[in-house]
Amino acid sequence: MDKKEQALRKMEEFSQTKALRFWEELSETEKEDFSDQILRTDFSCLLPENEADKAFEGKISPVPVRTVEEIEKNRDALKEKGLAVIREGKTAAVLLAGGMGTRLGSDGPKGVFDIGIHKPTYIFQRLIENLREVTDEAGVCPDLYIMTSEKNDRVTRDFLRSHEYFGYPKEHIFFFVQENAPAVGADGQILLEEKNRLATSPNGNGGWYPSLLGSKAGIHFKASGVEWLNVFAVDNVLQRILDPVFVGAVEESGVNTGAKVIKKNAPDEGVGVLCLKEGRPLVVEYYELTDEMKTKRGPDGELVYNYGVILNYLFRRSALDEATDRRIPFHRVEKKVSCVDENGKRTEPEKPNAFKYELLVLDLLWELSTCLGFEVVREREFAPIKNRTGKDSVESAQRLLQQNGIEV
Ligand code: UTP
Repeated sequence: MDKKEQALRKMEEFSQTKALRFWEELSETEKEDFSDQILRTDFSCLLPENEADKAFEGKISPVPVRTVEEIEKNRDALKEKGLAVIREGKTAAVLLAGGMGTRLGSDGPKGVFDIGIHKPTYIFQRLIENLREVTDEAGVCPDLYIMTSEKNDRVTRDFLRSHEYFGYPKEHIFFFVQENAPAVGADGQILLEEKNRLATSPNGNGGWYPSLLGSKAGIHFKASGVEWLNVFAVDNVLQRILDPVFVGAVEESGVNTGAKVIKKNAPDEGVGVLCLKEGRPLVVEYYELTDEMKTKRGPDGELVYNYGVILNYLFRRSALDEATDRRIPFHRVEKKVSCVDENGKRTEPEKPNAFKYELLVLDLLWELSTCLGFEVVREREFAPIKNRTGKDSVESAQRLLQQNGIEV
C-alpha cells in the first residue's frame, strides 16, 4: 500500500473523511504532502477512552505539603544533599518550550521575547542565568534538554545559537521536538488549515518523555546516568532550576516526583491545585475545579485546596520508564483555530470554534503515584509571563524581578 492509500485508510479508520473534501482538487505533490502530515499526526487523542475524566467531586482530599517553615529549618542539610546529587551527574533539566504563547501575542517562541526595560533581557536568557547560579555553585553542568514544537523549532535553535546559549556550554544543550495533535470542530471532524493540511497544534506539554526518548537527544539521555529530571516551563522568569534544596528534599523523601507549589492568592487564581485522589497525587486544573473546591476553607480560615503548582517538577527516571506503557489522558480545550471553510476559504474565528487536545505534564504526578509538594515563596520564585499587560504579564514579571534585585 502506498503512502496515499495508507493516509486515506487512516482517515477512514478514525471516521475523519470530512477533511478529505478537497482531495480530488489536489495535485499529486499536494496529495503526497497531505498524506505525510496525516501519517505523522497522532490521532490517539480522538479516541474517547483517551480523554481525561472530569468527575473529580467526592473523591478528592487535600494534600500534605512540606511548608516553607519546615524547609527553612532544614535548608542547609537539604541543600548539601541536593548539591551532592547534582555533582554526581544524577540530574538533568528539561525546558518545555513547545507552546504557542498565544496569550502573549508575539510571533516567535515565548523564550525569544525581550522583557528588558533598560537592556535587552530575553526570557531564555533569564532561565539560563537562573540555572547557571546553581551550576556555578555545584561546579558541574548538567544537561539541559529543550523541547520545541514543529512550529518553533528552527527559530528557537537559531536564536539560542546566535546568543551563544547565554553562556551555557553548548555540549550540554539538546533539543527535541514534540508531537502534534489535530484540532476538531464542533462536529468532531478535524479542521483544515489549508485544503491539503490538517489544522494541528503541539499536543500539550505532557508528552515530553516519549518525545525525548524517541529523539536524537534521547540517545544521549539513555546513555547518561541521570536519575532525576527537573521539568520546567518557559514562562516563569523567577524560577529556580535544579534548586539543590528541592532536589535534596525529594531525594530524601523517597518519592517518585516532586512539585514546587505556592499558596494560592485567591480562590479563583488560575493555577492547577495539588490534591490527593484516593491517596495518589493529582493536580486539578483551575478550569476543572468545582466552586466548592475553590472556596472551601478549613478551621484555620485557610483555603483547604490551597497549594497551586508552578510547573516546576522533579521526576524520577526509573518511575518514568516504568510508566511509559501507560498513557496519560488528553484534555479537550476550546480554542480559536483559523481554518478553511466549506468553500476552501480561510477564516479567522472571532470566538472559539474548535477543540484542541493536550497532554498535561501534571497528569504524570498521578501516573507516578507519589509526590512531595514543596512550598516556595511566591514573590521569590513565581513570575509567570502569560500576557503582555495585567495579570501574569511582562509588566508584572518586570516588577517582581526588580523586587528581587534583578535589573532588566
Ligand atoms: P501554557 O499552558 O502557558 O501554554 O504552557 P502556551 O502555549 O505557552 O501559552 P498560551 O496558552 O498559548 O498563551 C505552559 C508551558 O508548557 C509549554 C509552554 O511552552 C510553557 O512552557 N508547552 C505548552 C509545551 O511545551 N507544549 C505545548 O504543547 C504546550
